[in-house]
Amino acid sequence: MTNPVVRTEQKGDVALIIVNNPPVNAISSAVRSGLKEHVERAMADPATKAAVIACEGRTFVAGADISEFGKPPSGPSLQDLLNGMEAGDKPVVAALHGTALGGGFEIALATHARVIDPKGMVGVPEVKLGLLPGAGGTQRIPRLAGALVGLDLCTSGRFVKAKEALSLGLVDKVAEGDLREEAIAYARTLVGKPLRRSAEQQQPFDKAAFDKAEADVLKKARGAIAPAKIAECIRASTVGDFKQGEAVERKNFMELLVSDQSKAMRYVFFAEREAQKTPHLVGVEPRKVEKVGVIGAGTMGAGITISLINSGMPVTIVETSQEALDRGVKRMADTWARDVKLGRINQAVADQRMALLKPTTDFNSLADCDLVIEAVFEEMAIKKDVFGRLGKIAKKGAVLASNTSYLDINQIGEAAGRPEDVIGMHFFSPANIMRLVEVIEGSKSAKDAVQTGVAIGKRMGKLPIVMGVCDGFVGNRILATWRQVSDMLVEEGAMPKDVDDAMEAWGMAMGPYAVGDLAGLDIGMRRRKEFAHLRDPEKRDTGAIADAICALGRYGQKTGSGYYTYASGKREVDPVVTQIVEKASKDKGITRKPVSADKITSYIHAAMVNEACKILSENIVSRPIDVDMVKLNGYGFPVWRGGPMFEADRIGVDKVLATVKEVHKMAGKGFEPASLLEWMAANNKKFADIKPGDAKGK
Ligand code: 3HC
Ligand code: NAI
Repeated sequence: MTNPVVRTEQKGDVALIIVNNPPVNAISSAVRSGLKEHVERAMADPATKAAVIACEGRTFVAGADISEFGKPPSGPSLQDLLNGMEAGDKPVVAALHGTALGGGFEIALATHARVIDPKGMVGVPEVKLGLLPGAGGTQRIPRLAGALVGLDLCTSGRFVKAKEALSLGLVDKVAEGDLREEAIAYARTLVGKPLRRSAEQQQPFDKAAFDKAEADVLKKARGAIAPAKIAECIRASTVGDFKQGEAVERKNFMELLVSDQSKAMRYVFFAEREAQKTPHLVGVEPRKVEKVGVIGAGTMGAGITISLINSGMPVTIVETSQEALDRGVKRMADTWARDVKLGRINQAVADQRMALLKPTTDFNSLADCDLVIEAVFEEMAIKKDVFGRLGKIAKKGAVLASNTSYLDINQIGEAAGRPEDVIGMHFFSPANIMRLVEVIEGSKSAKDAVQTGVAIGKRMGKLPIVMGVCDGFVGNRILATWRQVSDMLVEEGAMPKDVDDAMEAWGMAMGPYAVGDLAGLDIGMRRRKEFAHLRDPEKRDTGAIADAICALGRYGQKTGSGYYTYASGKREVDPVVTQIVEKASKDKGITRKPVSADKITSYIHAAMVNEACKILSENIVSRPIDVDMVKLNGYGFPVWRGGPMFEADRIGVDKVLATVKEVHKMAGKGFEPASLLEWMAANNKKFADIKPGDAKGK
């Protein structure tokens, strides 16, 4: 039977072996058997002197088929196939285009030479799946380019452009014309010559430099286990022969493959893609956007504008005063100047970006924009005024978006007089870096307006997640809950540092108090004051400690102290805060008791899941994956836990519910177990079982 995904086109004495497995030529079992069959045939055919492996479609093989992991293996093993090919005495050359990744790049590494398209890239992103390159990559990369390069590529998973790949010795030639023809010509030059096999190469090894680089990698790993396993493999490549190194790689790969971390990260890979297909928007075309307006050139307005312009969109940015405008423009110019200095872009690109920026104090300049994003002060009266004016001057069909963190998009929509055009686009700070954008659908927002928010988010290289209106939307609403639980645990006996240490050891990028100090404590203090009259007296109030800290003018890092002091340049515990905490407990009549790290993390996680269940029942989002994507991409949740909902499935919904009940006992009103969670526990359901619509009203 002919293989459906691999074929050979004979080009005289060279066999051109072509893989065609759309969309990304992932190495399925059929690709493996096809490659084996066609390579062996070429090797056996006396008329064939050499072979070239190339791919159809948008890319060279982008890796193993991730959906096959965890299933019983079938077909030939990739390692055996590659080792056999490399050991052969006829030259095989890889013709690389698109992104040759993971197992795809490993195929190329086992050929005798690599020719790459100038726009092509190579990389081993397995670490992002909690894995390591498992088909010789950890052994062949250091043998070709040195152990430090191997460690860098395999632990960062970064993509390497053609020119750099050439300079690192990972490829042999950057094509100047037709990739396949040049690869065929290159293969012919190797016929009859001694073949250069990656597995047989050796590079000098600087142990001290490697030790240091490895220590840096492990420090950055934040609980992820794959980087240490990778470092072990790379080290093995420097001591024994290829077979010994390969054995270490195999053992470590198999361990990672069955680990919870890799399962979580593979889930994230597919969930990220799934999350971008909002069920009720499938098939809805976005509106056309060529010109964008931004209102407000503060922290967020400037960041959003940088991101829009970096994606090639011209932006008109409006401020109330020339001074505020100049400040915002300077911030953007400084960012691009820094990018030039760091070699990320050249001066010409920076100049092009500046040319796409139109700063003005004339609000009417927004009249020809297809999308306007508002990022002014977080006050409903100001937002209403801005949208009232915008509704009158913006062109028909323009999408009007607010970057509000908490405010009601429906009210803002009414103020504009055309709620169908109004959506929320909640970016995260720094907006030119953070990947998440919450796209808020008001009750009257038109579907194509919402889809426009999604499309623009994607164009900006972000991860847009669509959701309905509620206080704080998905991300900040859940954040508020776990902040309160943290505060209560501090009142009960933990110190802020205990909470931060526990959460950071659990894998969070930063604990809540370190984040508070970074973001500024004054914002929360002002919100507490402003909404004091709306506070439910039956709910446990946890503001006393933060208020006492703020009352000393300690607003966080910007004032040199907050929950911690930063006098030495490092985060340090301050006895003043310890006293404030102890006094707050005493004032409430609480006898402080030690709180274990396990209690801290399990309470905080359970509180997140419980609030998320309420959000799902209210149909603010319809899928647990939406919550996971928000927390992973906007709030520093450890990717190797998959997100709070995936983690809840790992722990067990019934166990999480039991913890939620304990949290409720401590926290009281507002922390009642979500009915969805109770229903799930009673019916033995996992979050993975919840399909769009399943949770609504439960
Ligand atoms: N396995 C299975 N499916 C894959 C896949 C893979 N390796 N890579 C991509 N896909 C699927 C995606 O799920 C998506 O499916 P959908 O259309 O149904 O949602 C489709 O292919 C297109 O992918 P993207 O939407 O991501 O397309 P982009 O053009 O944006 O990106 C890409 C292309 C850069 C290749 C990106 O898909 C990517 O990074 N893929 C993963 C690469 C990777 O991690 N490779 C290593 C795999 S592990 C491995 O090789 C182990 C080995 O060492 C033994
Ligand atoms: P900011 O104070 O840094 O900037 C606001 C800017 O808006 C100021 O430069 C001000 O001069 C300008 N402005 C005020 N009224 C205006 C008007 N009528 N027309 C034009 N410009 C006007 O505030 P920041 O932090 O950028 O916040 C803006 C919005 O983004 C708020 O709604 C906030 O809740 C939201 N947000 C803030 C985040 C943050 O971390 N700072 C994160 C996500 C959202």
